[in-house]
Amino acid sequence: MPNFWRELSKPIFALAPMEDVTDTSFREVVAGLSDPQYLQVLFTEFTSVDGMNHPKGKIKVAERLFVSESEKSLLKQKNIRLVAQIWGNKPELFHKIAREITDEYEFDGIDINMGCPVKNVVKNGCCSALIDQPTLAKEIIFAAKEATHLPVSVKTRTGIRSHDTEVWIAHVLETKPAAIILHGRTQKQQSDGLADWEEIAKGARMRDQINPDTQFLGNGDVFSVSQGEELITRYGLDGVMIGRGIFHDPWFFNPLPLTPSKSGKLAQLLLHTKLYEQNWGGKKNFNQLKRFYKIYTNDFPGAALLRAELMESKTYEEVYQVVNAFKKELPLPEGNGNS
Ligand SMILES: Cc1cc2nc3c(=O)[nH]c(=O)nc-3n(C[C@H](O)[C@H](O)[C@H](O)COP(=O)(O)O)c2cc1C
Repeated sequence: MPNFWRELSKPIFALAPMEDVTDTSFREVVAGLSDPQYLQVLFTEFTSVDGMNHPKGKIKVAERLFVSESEKSLLKQKNIRLVAQIWGNKPELFHKIAREITDEYEFDGIDINMGCPVKNVVKNGCCSALIDQPTLAKEIIFAAKEATHLPVSVKTRTGIRSHDTEVWIAHVLETKPAAIILHGRTQKQQSDGLADWEEIAKGARMRDQINPDTQFLGNGDVFSVSQGEELITRYGLDGVMIGRGIFHDPWFFNPLPLTPSKSGKLAQLLLHTKLYEQNWGGKKNFNQLKRFYKIYTNDFPGAALLRAELMESKTYEEVYQVVNAFKKELPLPEGNGNS
């Protein structure tokens, strides 16, 4: 059985699954900027197994699993793995959809979301609500594992109302998942406060005792590669997963001695827009792209003004025009996007 998690060089760095963020376009931008030593695993946005099973809803939901040809070839070239993340609460649907993902797509792994704290999903007993339902949670993991030869991982939190890390992680480990990614917050905390890395370390120690073959990654508030490396060493982990850190620095996984140039940032902004247009055209809301413009327009003269203009844009064409006009007004030094 292929289990890429075991083949990865340590320490492992992964980009977190993020809804409306980690689509094929953004993953391709990040992969293009990253040193594969520091970015080994990417995840899709979370994808509902009920949605995938719905005769009409499926087309829309399956967009979350779309991988463009250009992303595929880039990931292959850089040897970066791609994992499909799924969620729900019915073991039989996990079985069905895990099989479908295995047979009809080309992912390297399947991840089960047992961490999302959003009201709409937890009120239906899905995602982090499964922490309170360990028997069902285990049935779900076993069902997915039975349906696929791909490695199955679990991304979760430390508890519901308070940390219950050791008890909960011991349950998950009974299913021998290929990897566990533990976000050091409870469901109740949502994104508040700080992730508790002592709790993450407790989870890693359970792994050492119960199933040393499971790779163990910590998640929460990592904002640089060096911070990630330090946490991995200090808490006995195999790796870390980075979420919001990528908004602070799209070059996150390529620690450079120099900060990226203006031309490098604008080239990435244009590339991201082009890829988004090619992949989605009118299918997805154009305005979703605007949240990304902040990450490419900072720390150079005129950045705030450019950002404000981009926020007003209504079409892809307007974005190209605004950025190209800005480039003409403020001649930029040549750059290759990485300098
Ligand atoms: C915009 C956004 C969307 C997210 N969507 C998902 C998701 O689809 N699946 C998931 O498991 N976690 C999701 N998360 C949680 C992140 O994967 C991660 O666990 C969390 O942001 C903590 O990591 P960080 O401190 O590095 O950001 C999302 C987070 C953000 C900010």
